[in-house]
Amino acid sequence: MRNKIESFGIGTGKIVYSTNDYEDIFCFSKAENIELFKSSGVVLFRGFGVTPIQMKAFSEKFSSSYIGDPTKTSFDSVDFVNFVDAEMNAISLHVEHGFSPFRPDAIWFCCKTPVQGGETLFADGVQIWKEMSKHTKQLFLDKKLKFDFESVEFDDLKNFLVLGETLDNCKPILDKIEGLSYQINEDSTLSCKYICSAVVKTKYENQDAFANSLSGPLANGLEIFEDGSKLPDEVADEIQKLYDKFTEEISWQAGDLVMIDNSRFMHGRREFKDNQREVFTTLTNLSLD
Ligand SMILES: [Fe+2]
Repeated sequence: MRNKIESFGIGTGKIVYSTNDYEDIFCFSKAENIELFKSSGVVLFRGFGVTPIQMKAFSEKFSSSYIGDPTKTSFDSVDFVNFVDAEMNAISLHVEHGFSPFRPDAIWFCCKTPVQGGETLFADGVQIWKEMSKHTKQLFLDKKLKFDFESVEFDDLKNFLVLGETLDNCKPILDKIEGLSYQINEDSTLSCKYICSAVVKTKYENQDAFANSLSGPLANGLEIFEDGSKLPDEVADEIQKLYDKFTEEISWQAGDLVMIDNSRFMHGRREFKDNQREVFTTLTNLSLD
């Protein structure tokens, strides 16, 4: 029996339903999922009872590597499966690790315990870019975003990429990373600056997408551009309106799994008040051929 697949939300997203209460996520065709994901950018699986461990195992079928997140705690000490609910605040739209060169291709979420509120949000950067005014587009084509970090521990950097054991032997790797400049401080921490465009090419259809970490965790406040200039108020208003227009939400059910194209879609979260919420994530680079 074939799985029911429907549109999810107002855009390209898709939802795949299990055929019965016991269907295993691993029975869903790998080839079909690849096609769905490439064309839609957001695929939600409902009714498969996916656990955090299964999320990791399922993601392995489509991924070439994992990216860590030193800001989160891991689930049962399983590498690269993290708990996202240490805090209950709303989180604005952003791409994962968009403040750094260590941006994963995909972010996966699964829900163990849903609560009222706490919906995960997503918005299509391709649609946002298409609707943006010419003037604002030109601003973001002319000026790159800047993210500054002080006192970065070398051990934290090692969460993001495979580096050598010492700061000295990882220098050649860091030196090759586009947009990254850094200096090593006397206490062996790093001061880093990362420069990147707010508009990127999507990984699978080579479209322009407004997909960045202008807002969200570790966003850089108001002085966002490389030249130190600020986001003009009218531009901030326009962006907020576009975010509001294109924001879609996942009202979680237990066992849901979603995979999101981090080169195209931004994501965020509504606030919640019940600390029983349990949503987990893993970040991967994809290998879909
Ligand atoms: Fe995030």
